[in-house]
Amino acid sequence: MRPCIVITGASSGIGAACVQRFLAEGWDIGAVGRRCDRLEALAKAGGERVRPIVADLSQEAGIAAIARGVEAWRKDLAAIAHCAGDFLVAPIEATTPAEFERIWRITVWAKHMLTRALLARLEGRGAPKAIVHVASLAAHEDFAGETAYMSAMHGLIGLARAQDIELRDRGIRAAVVSPGLVRTELTERSGFGAAALEQALTPGAIADSVFQLVKTIREGGYIGEIFHRPGVGPSRSTLSGPQN
Ligand SMILES: NC(=O)c1ccc[n+]([C@@H]2O[C@H](COP(=O)([O-])OP(=O)(O)OC[C@H]3O[C@@H](n4cnc5c(N)ncnc54)[C@H](OP(=O)(O)O)[C@@H]3O)[C@@H](O)[C@H]2O)c1
Repeated sequence: MRPCIVITGASSGIGAACVQRFLAEGWDIGAVGRRCDRLEALAKAGGERVRPIVADLSQEAGIAAIARGVEAWRKDLAAIAHCAGDFLVAPIEATTPAEFERIWRITVWAKHMLTRALLARLEGRGAPKAIVHVASLAAHEDFAGETAYMSAMHGLIGLARAQDIELRDRGIRAAVVSPGLVRTELTERSGFGAAALEQALTPGAIADSVFQLVKTIREGGYIGEIFHRPGVGPSRSTLSGPQN
């Protein structure tokens, strides 16, 4: 039976590139997003190998709907790729409680809640299972005006570390890809200039790293984190620090 992955953010950008990459590698895909038309188009192109799951990850009802969708489809998940997310540039005074919460909710809360909801599907015999998070260089470098985003991305690294240390004895590893600027709908709508976007990474390059992390874990190895800086090739690092 083909291995199976749930990919969030499947309707655009990095998540959509991951759908194409895992399809090309022979995987079945549970494709999560809110835009039904985009997911239906993926399913049309991927045939029975792509299962569209329309849900809002920022709501408990959406998390429950994804769990039900996966349950009705496949019992045995090999991996989750958490690619859904958003971005916010705003000075501290302009970052409203609602905006701060929205960014933290999609960046950290949703990834904990979805992992929690799918954990029983990930466990089981066979090759180790993988949880991959798409974080950002903003988890490691300083960017003024990104209070909500930077803090949430630091939180996401913490979440990934916590998942990895708690789940590794159960045959599940968590890892992270941290990109700089990637040319997607997110960056197109966020006001980055043409010069910056010209230098930006491609979603396909990030999808390659997501696939590399999953493959390495399934083969019994481990890479904690892959960084992507525009203009520089990807580099690898530990996720959990020297004590691990
Ligand atoms: N692009 C960059 O330069 C860059 C750099 C570093 C890190 N990142 C991070 O990478 C992740 C993906 O970004 P991207 O550039 O691929 O952005 P994108 O093209 O805008 O894609 C974002 C995806 O997230 C989904 N999503 C957002 N909110 C959701 C919600 N509440 N429920 C369900 N799905 C939701 C969107 O689907 P629907 O709209 O269909 O729901 C969409 O598929 C983000 O966390 C971003 O911060 C991006």
